[in-house]
Amino acid sequence: MSQGEKLVIFAGEGASADAVSALSRRVGAPVSERMGEELTLVLDRDGLSLVGCGLTLRGDFEEMLRRLTNGRLSHEMLVKLTKTASPHPTAVDATAGMGEDALLLAAAGYEVTLFEQDAVIAALLRDTMTRARKHPVLGEIVARMTLIEGNSIAGMASLEKAPDIIYLDPMFPARKKSGLINKKLQLLQKLEQPCTEEAELVGAAYALKPKKIIIKRPLNGAFLAGRKPSYTVKGKAIRYDVLVP
Ligand SMILES: C[S@@+](CC[C@H](N)C(=O)[O-])C[C@H]1O[C@@H](n2cnc3c(N)ncnc32)[C@H](O)[C@@H]1O
Repeated sequence: MSQGEKLVIFAGEGASADAVSALSRRVGAPVSERMGEELTLVLDRDGLSLVGCGLTLRGDFEEMLRRLTNGRLSHEMLVKLTKTASPHPTAVDATAGMGEDALLLAAAGYEVTLFEQDAVIAALLRDTMTRARKHPVLGEIVARMTLIEGNSIAGMASLEKAPDIIYLDPMFPARKKSGLINKKLQLLQKLEQPCTEEAELVGAAYALKPKKIIIKRPLNGAFLAGRKPSYTVKGKAIRYDVLVP
């Protein structure tokens, strides 16, 4: 959570009192009788959502189905970049966010360990994954995803085995035209801290010696931690810098 953003928990229809107080302890925010003035985490029978600034954010992997099915997955840049002949490929997503990139990797057959350090984002992601587990198509994909709440710099250091791939997508530097950021991102950016540990993040990934470290960057953004990649693949709005340790 960024400093200064006030967050409360609100129990919507069908929420159990136990689940609400567990959530309150987990994210360190008080339970309120009414919606908060800034940000509110609402738990109801449909799951968890974040409400604020006139926007509602509820993670929904079903919205990603269009990109995963009917042969479209293989056209995804990230999937092309991580194509492998390994029968059991593994990946670490060290900056999970709402888990959409990790879902692409899992759909491509990777066993993915996701790290998310922000307690609110981790709670939203966990809820999204729980709902997706019941879906006939998504269930099998999400079964390959394991979420660990915490900082991936320490997390990666304690992994026993190097994954094939480490994926890094820390928050992009502030954009000038905020009107161009989609609504979901506007709300998420209220929670995300700008990445102040770029060098440590890349260093922890490098120390594990995976086959590839893939870093998502703005098309014309600086290299993460100033580290020159082995090669770069450019899309229309973003690019991937690839480090081969
Ligand atoms: C831009 S978002 C990632 C979006 C994600 N790729 C997706 O597809 O939804 C960056 C996320 O990384 C998290 N993060 C940044 N540094 C981290 C670290 N060292 N350990 C764990 N999470 C981190 C932030 O809290 C934020 O949620």
